[in-house]
Amino acid sequence: MDLNTKKVLNNGVEMPVFGLGVYKSAGETKQAVLDALEAGYRHIDTAALYNNEQMVGEAIKESGIPREEIFVTTKLWNDDMRNGTQMEAFEKSLHLLDMDYVDLYLIHWPVSSALEDSWKVLEQIYKEGRARAIGVSNCHMEHLMRVMAVASVVPAVNQIECHPYLSQKPLRTFCNNLSIEVTAWSPLGRGRVLEDETIMALAAKYGKTPAQIVLRWEVQENIIVIPKSVHKARIIENAGVFDFALDAGDMKLMNGLNKDLHFGTSPDDFESKQW
Ligand SMILES: NC(=O)c1ccc[n+]([C@@H]2O[C@H](COP(=O)([O-])OP(=O)(O)OC[C@H]3O[C@@H](n4cnc5c(N)ncnc54)[C@H](OP(=O)(O)O)[C@@H]3O)[C@@H](O)[C@H]2O)c1
Repeated sequence: MDLNTKKVLNNGVEMPVFGLGVYKSAGETKQAVLDALEAGYRHIDTAALYNNEQMVGEAIKESGIPREEIFVTTKLWNDDMRNGTQMEAFEKSLHLLDMDYVDLYLIHWPVSSALEDSWKVLEQIYKEGRARAIGVSNCHMEHLMRVMAVASVVPAVNQIECHPYLSQKPLRTFCNNLSIEVTAWSPLGRGRVLEDETIMALAAKYGKTPAQIVLRWEVQENIIVIPKSVHKARIIENAGVFDFALDAGDMKLMNGLNKDLHFGTSPDDFESKQW
C-alpha cells in the first residue's frame, strides 16, 4: 500500500485511500494542495462551503499533473438543497474548479426537506458524466435508507466524522454491507486525539508520530482518510503511514478508544443550527 493505493467504488471508479482535506485552509489552500501533490497525494477533498474550490483548481493546473491522475471531491451545500438550486450549485463548483467534471460529488449534509430531491439531481449529474461518482456525507442509517428508497444509483461513498474517539463501527458496517465506502472526516479528530496516552505510547513503540498511528489505524480499518494540514512538514508526515503496520493487539487497543464523541456537529442536530 502507498499514497497511490486506490479503492474500487461500487461503480468501478478508483478512489485513492489517502487524500488532503482543505476545510479552513483559507488563503493557504493553493500552497497546501501544491505541497500535497508534490508529496505524492492524488486526492483532494473540498466543498462549496470551504470557499476554496478556485484555489484547488488553480493548484491542480499549476502542478502540471494531468487532471485525470487527481481525484477531486466537492460537495453540495445545504442552502442549495433548501433553495432547490442544486444544479446551479454544481455548475458553480465546476466553474470555480475550472474543470468539466469532478471525481466525486457529495450531498454535504442530509437536509431533511430536500434529501431525496437532491439525490435525484446528483443522479442526473452522474448520468451526464459530470461526476464520475456520487455520494453522501453525514448520513446516519435512516438517512441512507431514505436515499436508497429512491435511488437508481447507490451512493458510492458516505463521508462521516470518524477518528479514535468516534469510531462509527456500526455505521461503517452498515455502509459496507450496502457497498458504500466510508471516508473519515476529521480523521485526526481535528488534532484533539493526538495527546491520548495510548496513541502516544503506540507512537513511541512504532517510532512514528501520533498522527501517523491514528491514520494508519484508519487505513487498516478500511477507511478512506483526508487529513487536513496547511503545513508542508505535516502534509508529508501524515502520508508516512505506508511503511509500517499496527499488529492485531494494537488495532484492538485503538478500537477500544471509542467514546462516541463528536468534535464536529452530529447529523442528529445539524438542522437546528440553520446551516
Ligand atoms: N463532510 C463534512 O461535513 C466534513 C466536515 C469536516 C471536515 N471535512 C473534510 O475532512 C477534512 C479533514 O477534517 P478536519 O480538517 O476537520 O480535521 P483533521 O484532518 O482531523 O485535523 C486537522 C487539524 O489537525 C492539525 N494537524 C494536521 N496534521 C497534523 C499533525 N501531523 N500533527 C499535529 N496536528 C496536525 C491541522 O493543523 P494545521 O493545518 O495547522 O497543520 C488541523 O488543525 C477537512 O479538511 C475536510 O476536507 C468534511
